[in-house]
Amino acid sequence: MHRIISKKQLSEDVFMMRIAAPLIASERRPGQFVIIQLDTNYGERIPLTIANADPQEGSITIIFQVVGGTTRRLAALNEGGSIENLVGPLGRPTHIEKFGTVVCVGGGIGVAPLYPIVQGMKQAGNRLIVIMGARTKALLILEDEMRAFSDELIVCTDDGSYGRKALVTAPLKELCERNPKPDLTVAIGPPIMMKFCAETTRPFGVPTVVSLNTIMVDGTGMCGGCRVTVGGKTRFVCVDGPEFDGHLVDFDNMMKRLKAYKDQEDHARDLCRLEMEMEKLNQPQKGTKCTS
Ligand code: FES
Repeated sequence: MHRIISKKQLSEDVFMMRIAAPLIASERRPGQFVIIQLDTNYGERIPLTIANADPQEGSITIIFQVVGGTTRRLAALNEGGSIENLVGPLGRPTHIEKFGTVVCVGGGIGVAPLYPIVQGMKQAGNRLIVIMGARTKALLILEDEMRAFSDELIVCTDDGSYGRKALVTAPLKELCERNPKPDLTVAIGPPIMMKFCAETTRPFGVPTVVSLNTIMVDGTGMCGGCRVTVGGKTRFVCVDGPEFDGHLVDFDNMMKRLKAYKDQEDHARDLCRLEMEMEKLNQPQKGTKCTS
């Protein structure tokens, strides 16, 4: 059992939680993630990036968006509550060194996994340009935290409600056109955003790292659920990633695989919503279990 030390709502459906996990906190490095399971009998296992860790306190911080049944249930937990199963740190850490100028691009909830990488890249002595994007101002998260580590911060919103009205690829292209061009780009966000960031940097030859968030089950390379095609070869995101060369990832195949369980996910989301409404009314519905 892992105790929830604190919980904060960052935007309409994005939450930050500090969770007691002393061993994970002392071992984790930027880029790694945990797999959370709320109910070891029936619960879905979901991968979430470790956004921060405090080894002194023995805690890790996760940031997640409510998108399905499990994240809805997670968001309903409060300080003092607990998470039944937490496994990690998983995945390969980000390769951090002094590259020169590094552009970090975060879209939507992708800003959360980007945050420890931004910290690490800055601490390694890089000049850091951060591009943050969201559909609208209300969905932007961690702006102050990102500003604290950035030499240059560019904020974009799709609707122009804050910062520049643009997709993140517009300032990214302009940065690639500068002389000297960036030495590295790290892009994390929705698959379509990462795909087009990679397409933006490709003609300029700017190395581009992306962090993939696929469906996962075991997180140890055994089930094959997280497989992706990178450079024509099959790779497992949980043990070979989550970071890969964005110019080699087959994003179209990955996006197709992400939709594989859409019907089941929709059903589970509706079931969870119903179950939670029933709980609120203090009339628990027997025989239903939220599994995703
Ligand atoms: S989650 Fe099972 S192989 Fe990666």
